[in-house]
Amino acid sequence: MISLQHLELIYITKCLLLVSLYAASIPHTVPAKFTLSNFFDSTLSMIHPLVSAGSDRCESLKSFLGITYEQMQVKNKTNWYDVLNIDLVTKNGNIKYNLTATRRMNRLMARAQTIVILIHGFMESSDGWMVNALAPELLKKSVYKVFALDGRKIINLEYFSSSTNARFMGEMLGSFLSDVIKNGEDPSKIYIIGHSLGSHIAGIAGKKVYEVTGKRISRITALDPAGPCFSNITDSGRLARTDAEYVDVIHSNAGILGLKAPVGHKDFYPNGGVIQPGCYLSICDHSRAWELFAESIASPKHFPARKCENWTMFGEGRCSKNEISYMGLESDSSSPGVYFLTTKNSAPFGMGSAGSG
Ligand SMILES: *[C@@H]1O[C@H](CO)[C@@H](O)[C@H](O)[C@H]1NC(C)=O
Ligand SMILES: *[C@@H]1O[C@H](CO)[C@@H](O)[C@H](O)[C@H]1NC(C)=O
Ligand SMILES: *[C@@H]1O[C@H](CO)[C@@H](O)[C@H](O)[C@H]1NC(C)=O
Ligand SMILES: *[C@@H]1O[C@H](CO)[C@@H](O)[C@H](O)[C@H]1NC(C)=O
Repeated sequence: MISLQHLELIYITKCLLLVSLYAASIPHTVPAKFTLSNFFDSTLSMIHPLVSAGSDRCESLKSFLGITYEQMQVKNKTNWYDVLNIDLVTKNGNIKYNLTATRRMNRLMARAQTIVILIHGFMESSDGWMVNALAPELLKKSVYKVFALDGRKIINLEYFSSSTNARFMGEMLGSFLSDVIKNGEDPSKIYIIGHSLGSHIAGIAGKKVYEVTGKRISRITALDPAGPCFSNITDSGRLARTDAEYVDVIHSNAGILGLKAPVGHKDFYPNGGVIQPGCYLSICDHSRAWELFAESIASPKHFPARKCENWTMFGEGRCSKNEISYMGLESDSSSPGVYFLTTKNSAPFGMGSAGSG
């Protein structure tokens, strides 16, 4: 039986999560919006235990609302081809394609050395903040052909159904890429970069490609993969290190809006990975992952990080003899593990060797 208190709790949680995560689409340089998000941000810590418990409480809420993955699968009401697009990102703007356009995609991808697919987070879009920070930098390098998945119609409104939709989006993208691969595209040219919910979409897509083709895409970079409803669940429903040949993760709001646990081959925790310098809101901490990554595209040596057991040991200088690895675009698969570094509080964030302990 669901009591009135239950209903109230569900309602409050929905509203709070909706509005507090809505701010993920608001850059922290827009002070006007901040009074509201400030308020919700401060309540986030109260609702957080409810959703960060992961599996259990999040699933029971979703089950009550009829929006678990299994329930939505049975309902089968969404025509995903109508609500999902993939955009070719060019210097002159985005060109939209349907996910059915696999042959055309093969032609577009044919001459590219590396195909990058950017995936936005909650309440964002294929021409939102994250894509606008990364794509222009990537397009300065001729080796990249840049695409952006557009799920703005289905990962907005409220977080719980968005977190379920993310899984369907990942499967759709995975099927699409599998077709493109079956038509002759080389999976080792495919590199997906996802922020927040987009990180899990990337992971699910990578799983699907492996399931269908037996091959792995080359790389997934997860920029503060979403935590709420994704903590403490099995690998099948979220990003995992088996989803690509190389999975690198930047945690910038670990345990709050982002996942805390390492889930990649290499997990970077700038400034300890929870709170970022110069940020007062979780949304800002959460976005910092893509800001740092964007900087690394033009400045690959800005973020040397130190392999270390934890932030305390790093801070005490007890890892200063351990190996260094670069965080960001140039990151490679050598010496997997957990890495720490410090950054500045505003752009340019990178401190070079001074940041690696
Ligand atoms: C993690 O998930 C398991 C299985 O659903 C559950 O038994 C356990 O209580 C969860 N742990 C936390 C911290 O939520
Ligand atoms: C979902 O519905 C579509 C038609 O709307 C149908 O073609 C498809 O097979 C259905 N999928 C499942 C899993 O039932
Ligand atoms: C994409 O699909 C929608 C509906 O499925 C259709 O109306 C539209 O014309 C298609 N667009 C292109 C460019 O093929
Ligand atoms: C950090 O790691 C060291 C060595 O494994 C351990 O002794 C210490 O308790 C850890 N500290 C924290 C805060 O986890």
